[in-house]
Amino acid sequence: MANKRIDEPTGTETVGHEWDGIEELNTPLPRWWLWTFYLTIIFAIGYVIAYPAWPMIDRATVGVLNWSSRGELAKDMSAADQARATVREQLARIPIERLPEESGLMQQAVSGGAAAFRVNCVQCHGSGAAGSQELGYPNLNDDDWLWGGDLKAIEYTLVHGIRQAGNDETRMSVMPPFEGAFDTAQLDALVDHVLSLSGKAETNATGAGIYADNCAACHGPAGEGDRAQGAPTLNDAIWLRGSSREAIKRQILQPRMGMMPQWEGRLDPVTIKMLAAYVHSLGGGEDFVEVAENPEADVDEQP
Ligand code: HEC
Ligand code: HEC
Repeated sequence: MANKRIDEPTGTETVGHEWDGIEELNTPLPRWWLWTFYLTIIFAIGYVIAYPAWPMIDRATVGVLNWSSRGELAKDMSAADQARATVREQLARIPIERLPEESGLMQQAVSGGAAAFRVNCVQCHGSGAAGSQELGYPNLNDDDWLWGGDLKAIEYTLVHGIRQAGNDETRMSVMPPFEGAFDTAQLDALVDHVLSLSGKAETNATGAGIYADNCAACHGPAGEGDRAQGAPTLNDAIWLRGSSREAIKRQILQPRMGMMPQWEGRLDPVTIKMLAAYVHSLGGGEDFVEVAENPEADVDEQP
């Protein structure tokens, strides 16, 4: 240290080391650098006090602000929950037939319904809601409805189910079996007539007579169907159980009838409402007002 001296050309003190005549200058740090350095220390101390910093055995120190990334996430999630709760509350209050007036709410209902459909309905109706003729699960995308296609009618179908024993309000009807009622020729004539209703066969007078006596009460004189009984339209191109002669014969002789669980009690009313909105949105949804004006349809008498 004794060799410390002022270096003449620069006027700066040396540190006192010397190697072969080369000396090291003790240049002071720039002020701005020094102050920045002190500020970072002060900041670090403040940070350690305010925020979680030192790892301890099972968790880090908490910090006086009590901030944590987990807490931040929880806050975001509870905000999302809050938003969802508000939507559900609004949905609970609005009568389903007024839903189309609130397009934002309708959209929320449709997307909520789509999610609930994937959980509760795809096992029967298929992921695209196209159903299955083999098993009598109707296609929900088309505009052919067994029981009614406006929001209120769909909601009713979902709430009370179809042919659920022990439920007075369920959608109910029974197509009687005609096994043994007709001989082979009569049966063929009847099948011809059924197919002729949608232009798939020549008209058949014998078949028409049998149809008028046995079938028209439910399926309508011209095969227009009857939603009060869930009797399918026979004069269109959409078939619940298939349009082959065998499928039609089988249905006449030993009718199969579809059953759907009632969703009341399994799903909450808001979820059912969302499901109805989703099904309605699939392509065949009908206007509530139009159906109510139609005296043929019974859906306006349903609660
Ligand atoms: C166990 C099988 C099954 C499940 C699960 C099921 N359905 Fe169905 N669904 C049926 C059957 C069968 C029919 C037709 C009943 C008939 O022949 O009248 C039907 C009919 C319907 C209808 C009436 C269609 C019309 O033309 O009027 C709607 C709407 C419907 N289902 C929606 C749903 C929704 C939404 C879900 C999920 C919450 C669901 N279904 C779950 C079997 C099922
Ligand atoms: C009491 C009412 C009733 C009577 C009478 C009746 N049906 Fe039906 N029929 C139904 C119902 C309900 C269904 C739907 C079954 C289901 O939902 O799975 C049906 C379904 C059918 C189907 C299947 C339609 C499709 O889209 O695949 C055919 C075909 C049919 N009936 C023909 C007849 C014929 C022919 C007669 C007369 C011999 C007749 N039905 C008499 C109520 C009736």
